[in-house]
Amino acid sequence: MSKDLLFEINQDHFREVLNKYTRKAFQMLPKLEKPCILDIGCGSGVPTIELAKLSNGEIVGIDINQSLLDKLNRKIEEEGFSNRMKAMKCSLFEIDFPDESFDIIWAEGSIHIIGFEKGLREWNRLLKTDGFLVVHDEIKNMSNKLEKIPSYGYKLINYFSLPEDAWWIEYYSPLEIRIKELRMKHSNDPEALKILKKYQNEIDMVKKNPKDCDSGFYIMKKL
Ligand SMILES: C[S@@+](CC[C@H](N)C(=O)[O-])C[C@H]1O[C@@H](n2cnc3c(N)ncnc32)[C@H](O)[C@@H]1O
Repeated sequence: MSKDLLFEINQDHFREVLNKYTRKAFQMLPKLEKPCILDIGCGSGVPTIELAKLSNGEIVGIDINQSLLDKLNRKIEEEGFSNRMKAMKCSLFEIDFPDESFDIIWAEGSIHIIGFEKGLREWNRLLKTDGFLVVHDEIKNMSNKLEKIPSYGYKLINYFSLPEDAWWIEYYSPLEIRIKELRMKHSNDPEALKILKKYQNEIDMVKKNPKDCDSGFYIMKKL
């Protein structure tokens, strides 16, 4: 995919608007001095960089997509966080850090890949005693998930839903405006139009059922 076009789309700029919910969740945790944080499925690191700004901790982001990790690595350098941040290629199915490595595990938009229950159960060993797990996941079955959290080895500290249609109103709708502008700008470039159409297709799907994207945060403490 053309690097220049990706730069023009600047998807992270739209994702950053939702960082206010990352901040809200982080503020629900007690103050920890230099916490070790693992961000699972960090992607290009929009929440990961925010976690570095919110804490004075050491942060490891893991993902399987190398081009997203490269992007995160560039941001780490630009922000001057190289002394306490690392982006690593690692599947969330094969996390092999030793037991009790982290004070906080953070997972936004990634636990559905392994499943809520399996993720909670498998990641428990990675947390230190009294460590925290913060998950941002779809809102579907929220009450069922909330009820089961203690049986997966955690105490629920807090939870909240994003406002209804937040993903549509705050992310996809502004992104659609950018995509439309770029389709006009590149109307004579079939390659660019093909890429932009893919973005538009995803936006159209969300537009049809914006509630399917409704999501929430679960803030948990290891039992
Ligand atoms: C919806 S994105 C979320 C990115 C970021 N956490 C955020 O909130 O902006 C899901 C991420 O999970 C990553 N992913 C998919 N399968 C994975 C796997 N098996 N192990 C680790 N990461 C994975 C994708 O590459 C993608 O970056």
